[in-house]
Amino acid sequence: MLKATGAAGFSTRAGSTIPETSMPTPSATHDTAQGTTVTRHVATQPAADPAANLCGFGNHFATEAEPGALPQGRNSPQRPPLGLYAEQLSGTAFTAPRAANRRSWLYRIRPAAVHGDFTLLPPSRLTHAFGTAPTPPTQLRWDALPLPPQPTDFIDGLVTYAGNGGPDAQSGVAIHLYAANADMQGRFFYDADGELLIVPQQGRLRLDTELGRLDVEPQQIALIPRGVRFRVALPDGMARGYVAENFGAFLRLPELGPIGANGLANPRDFITPHAAYEDVDGNFELVAKFQGRLWRAPIDHSPLDVVAWHGNHAPCHYDLRRFNTIGSISYDHPDPSIFTVLTSPSDTPGTANLDFVIFPPRWLVAENTFRPPWFHRNIASEFMGLIHGVYDAKAEGFAPGGASLHNSMSAHGPDAETFERACAADTTRPHKVADTMAFMFETRQVIHPTPWALQTPLLQRGYAQCWQGLRKHFKPGGV
Ligand code: FE2
Repeated sequence: MLKATGAAGFSTRAGSTIPETSMPTPSATHDTAQGTTVTRHVATQPAADPAANLCGFGNHFATEAEPGALPQGRNSPQRPPLGLYAEQLSGTAFTAPRAANRRSWLYRIRPAAVHGDFTLLPPSRLTHAFGTAPTPPTQLRWDALPLPPQPTDFIDGLVTYAGNGGPDAQSGVAIHLYAANADMQGRFFYDADGELLIVPQQGRLRLDTELGRLDVEPQQIALIPRGVRFRVALPDGMARGYVAENFGAFLRLPELGPIGANGLANPRDFITPHAAYEDVDGNFELVAKFQGRLWRAPIDHSPLDVVAWHGNHAPCHYDLRRFNTIGSISYDHPDPSIFTVLTSPSDTPGTANLDFVIFPPRWLVAENTFRPPWFHRNIASEFMGLIHGVYDAKAEGFAPGGASLHNSMSAHGPDAETFERACAADTTRPHKVADTMAFMFETRQVIHPTPWALQTPLLQRGYAQCWQGLRKHFKPGGV
């Protein structure tokens, strides 16, 4: 028998965020820089206002979908309110430094351990078999991933293009694309191997997570922490996009250095959902990604049964159009690290396990400057995708939903057509790069394509030809 609580089976009383006892009711969210202090989120929006955002990156929040569900004064009372179970979800080591410590306390209808044994699912295109085929230094590019002909949900629609490292080493990243045309029905998913950075390219996603609902559309991103269970529905009936599965340190906002206290992705634009839950019984399936493979376990209820939670290990979403893009106002342009949205640091200072970088609309004003991205070779490895429009270094061949890979020290840059046009441009006039959104997953380790990615007909066999039209302009002595 199915029993649902709340509209559409997912109940939230969005404003039931816990006010400080006897405090006057402030009108704004109170938050701090990421992880430096434990700060109670305080909101006074009406109890039914779903627009009352929990904002700020990595903040400590407290939220409940039923009044009184959150214990006060302790995390694990002898008998939690409303007959709920208390459970901690640790995203970092217990002893991680305070500024890097991530954990949340969940108050749920049943503990997460209530499910059957896991059995291995057949191998799929979701893998961490990186580098089992030789990794070529050739520049690689793929056509857009087509939508599937058969009903395919988000899990089954995932296909791994490339990656490095793995969950064992707790470093590296897997890069997947998804193409799906069906809601996840009767199944739920969590990833024990890494956190998921989801970059929709086409079609909206409704992500019902243990900690609340995220609705994201193309040009927005979602961040699902390691271990958080969720279900994906497709409001548009289909969806395509990119996923970085981060095995390393959790993604965070980059340092700003001389930029100052503001700029790039501003913390307040990261939105975490309010607690929401469903109380549903049935014969369901819990799918886990663990050590590179998918496993399934029977579960007789929805695991999205967290009625209240507090902590800072929580999903969030961000609109890339909110990015404050910074660039040169004199000559040249900065390294693309200036466009970093989020970074996963490695154990070498300044050398990221994963950088998520975007190329959003922006003004180009640098004078006497070659304005497109320059020709270069990079010790880091660069996997790019295009969410929307045209990327300014490649006029042709790089389609929304497609991808490219320029590995360590593999030379790349503008194609011949773009080069000729940029050399002839009048740089006394500003130019707006408009109607575009490209991104890059950049990693310190070489990004190894999977055998699938090297064999798929989507791989463009003649990609490197785009540079072969670059003519010799050299004139000895300037003659
Ligand atoms: Fe590059």
